[in-house]
Amino acid sequence: MRLALAFTLTVVAAYLVAVGVAYVWMRDELIRRQDQRIEELFTLLASNADQGDDAEFVEAVRAQIAAARDGHAVYQLLGPGSRVLATDIPPVSLPAGWSDQPAEALGRGGDIPFRVLVRTVGANRLAVGRDYSDLDALRETIQTAMLWSSLFALLVALGGGSLIALRIRGRLAAVSQALDRVAEGDLGARLPLTDADDDIDRVSQQVNAALVRLAALVDGMRQVSADIAHDLRTPLGRLRNHIAEALEATGQGADTRPVLEQALAESDAIGNTFSALLRIAQIEAGARKARFAPVNLTATLRSVAEVYADVAEDAQMRLALRDPGVPVWVNGDAELLVQALANLVENAIRHCPQGASIRCELALDGPRAVLRITDNGPGIPPGERENVLRRLYRLERSRTTPGSGLGLSLVKAVTDLHGGRLWLADAAPGLEVGIVLDLSMPIGLTKL
Ligand SMILES: Nc1ncnc2c1ncn2[C@@H]1O[C@H](COP(=O)(O)OP(=O)(O)OP(=O)(O)O)[C@@H](O)[C@H]1O
Ligand SMILES: [Mg+2]
Repeated sequence: MRLALAFTLTVVAAYLVAVGVAYVWMRDELIRRQDQRIEELFTLLASNADQGDDAEFVEAVRAQIAAARDGHAVYQLLGPGSRVLATDIPPVSLPAGWSDQPAEALGRGGDIPFRVLVRTVGANRLAVGRDYSDLDALRETIQTAMLWSSLFALLVALGGGSLIALRIRGRLAAVSQALDRVAEGDLGARLPLTDADDDIDRVSQQVNAALVRLAALVDGMRQVSADIAHDLRTPLGRLRNHIAEALEATGQGADTRPVLEQALAESDAIGNTFSALLRIAQIEAGARKARFAPVNLTATLRSVAEVYADVAEDAQMRLALRDPGVPVWVNGDAELLVQALANLVENAIRHCPQGASIRCELALDGPRAVLRITDNGPGIPPGERENVLRRLYRLERSRTTPGSGLGLSLVKAVTDLHGGRLWLADAAPGLEVGIVLDLSMPIGLTKL
């Protein structure tokens, strides 16, 4: 509303200045024409004196006075010794040349002044004048026009401004209401949208999109906490049982060592799970991004394959490696990338039966590096491929194998941290896990 008022006043002020300038210009023009008219009249009357006949001259001035009875003109013809020969004003002495005379000084009523020209013609002195009534009329017209049009503009602007202000206030009230609900914890609340598709709508859309994301994040966190609480109940229960067993054994004077060792192993496993959970949370927080440096993926994959070659052999599996044979540089955290690849190879070794083949592959796809760990084991059903990325999630059939269901969550967190894409696919038979990362340097340029 204040804005509308300020705008209106500015417009009206600009308008008044413009009209004022126009008025001054017109006034000057009118004065010029008025002077011209007086000059012409003067010349016409004076031309009667050219013949050297004063009587004719006086007659002409008198005729002029008789013709002009409207009171807008004044005439004065003085002979030698200031003898009045013809006039329609009281005997006053007027200065020579152009002058402005108040009506009063010329014995006229009203307050419109006169413009007067006084010059000598032969032995006489002629004064011709006209009042400024035209100018006065102009000023009055312009004043009235200015007043009414300013008033009209003010009313229109105020009316329009109020309407807009009311409309915006209404919409902001609705937005504020929705935000209050969000502040109270209702993440399902959304800002109202209109068909106007204006700035408020666009900002509302952005806020809504942020709310959708926020709700999904909070939901995810709730889910994770519930999952963690649920999944840790089992190992904690086992730990409790071991301790109870140990207590019982002590009461009976039996050897508590084996059961205490079991308890220790169980608590170590719980500790490891917590460490892994913390590590994933830390990776997701993104702080490690500050430590990013060029990483040679070729060397990284080779070292992982080398480390796991023996483990695979022990499990009677074949582990094959295929890479482009040149350094492939990405910007990242070498330690995390090794950990992610190790998790994938470990998964293949752990979740595939004896005799399986595992392939570690690095390929190039334009400006991107593609890592693939493929096996020919049981694979993961399509419906479970999203789920296994969740923390602590394991397939039913893997319940008996060691592990805590955090390996793939870490791979996902590491990929996200590197701005990459992770996918799980059917290798028919078996599982293919792929990671795509952007190259930091064109191929062929070795790092100095
Ligand atoms: N290569 C694979 N073949 C078949 N199933 C797999 C494979 N990799 C993972 N899975 C399934 O996905 C589940 C989740 O894998 P993830 O690596 O997250 O956990 P884990 O291997 O069970 O335990 P952890 O990695 O924490 O020791 C596994 O329990 C398993 O059921
Ligand atoms: Mg695993």
